[in-house]
Amino acid sequence: MIAPHGGKLVNRMVTGAEREALLARAAQLPVLVLNSRESSDLEMIAVGAMSPLEGFMGQADYDNVVANLRLANGTPWPLPVTLALKDGEAAPEAGAEVALQGEDGSVYGILTVGDVWQPDREIELDRCFSGTGAKADHDHPAWGYLSTLGSWNVGGSFEVADLPSHAKHNDYRFTPEQSRAAFAEKGWETVVAFQTRNPIHRAHEYLTKVALEQTDGLLVHPLVGDTKSDDIPSDVRMACYHALLNKYYPLDRTMLGVYPQAMRYGGPREAILHAICRQNYGCTHIIIGRDHAGVGAYYGTFDAQQIFDQFEDGELQINTLLFEHAFYCKLTGGMASTKSSPAGPEDKIFLSGTKVREMLSNGERPPAEFTRPEVADILIASYAGSATASA
Ligand code: ADX
Ligand code: MG
Repeated sequence: MIAPHGGKLVNRMVTGAEREALLARAAQLPVLVLNSRESSDLEMIAVGAMSPLEGFMGQADYDNVVANLRLANGTPWPLPVTLALKDGEAAPEAGAEVALQGEDGSVYGILTVGDVWQPDREIELDRCFSGTGAKADHDHPAWGYLSTLGSWNVGGSFEVADLPSHAKHNDYRFTPEQSRAAFAEKGWETVVAFQTRNPIHRAHEYLTKVALEQTDGLLVHPLVGDTKSDDIPSDVRMACYHALLNKYYPLDRTMLGVYPQAMRYGGPREAILHAICRQNYGCTHIIIGRDHAGVGAYYGTFDAQQIFDQFEDGELQINTLLFEHAFYCKLTGGMASTKSSPAGPEDKIFLSGTKVREMLSNGERPPAEFTRPEVADILIASYAGSATASA
């Protein structure tokens, strides 16, 4: 089985009598309330999906990640994972313990404060979210998040008694320990992860099928943490994945699980984050296609593939499966990419996201070459439902 990033699978969960004691202690402590992204990061860290992180980053890690894509000890890590104080919230002392709570008032666990410092969020935006396409500006969704935060960050490791409670997708919320056990039981030595924040259309399906030709198993691993308001909600997407997988995938070689991380829209840096975390889940390969984790025109189409060259062999153990732009090709009568078809622009079925949304909201199915009818029908019903809900 592939080693976790940094060598050891982190587990910050405490159980049994230790859990009772932690909760009793937490009840006596000052409280920090985590926002939704921070809560999903806490979950990812606690179950080892972000190994080797054992808590929210302190300044030394943060600074080196922003400047050099590495933790302070040199381990590759592409993006900050931090906890912000709300403006007006009292800064805890280094060494102090604080209780961590969700916005719904539920207690997660206890953080031991490492340091409290003032990050430069403009530098974070510029260094982490600028691409070869454009410099990150205040219109970038990363700023939409960073600008809501107070001015101070609190770093420190934590222990967790209870994870954020979820109404959704609980049957598919496998921890890295669980996915690793599932792969072992299935006898899969090579497993390819497919990250997505969208319904799976034919081009996505093609990437996963090409990958399946080369690997023992496929983990369809949709991101279900926070996304932009115009991305399709995770419950609608899950219905699409079920319909698609049940009809069009070899179920003995396919597993569906959710990835409880918030989307950063960090293009190349986020591709590395997605890869490292999938390695922790036990995957040996990850699909990186065109403009992975991209948004608008900030990143170059293949920046998220090229960035992996920055690391030495073996620093990341997970392998990338890279794809050119895939499309339905009328000339060859199947899915293809520029690597496998001589198609000209007139041979490619191409629909913009805007066009697809327009068709779906008019109750029209996009062509079967673009999306499977079972998926289109679920999306059409969801558009109709949300139109009724907001009418
Ligand atoms: S995201 O995480 O990268 O934002 P998205 O759902 O848009 O998710 O894409 C999932 C994966 O499929 C990414 O690796 C992306 O690069 C790849 N991808 C999406 N559409 C295409 C396409 N037409 N051709 C090649 N790769 C694609
Ligand atoms: Mg995309």
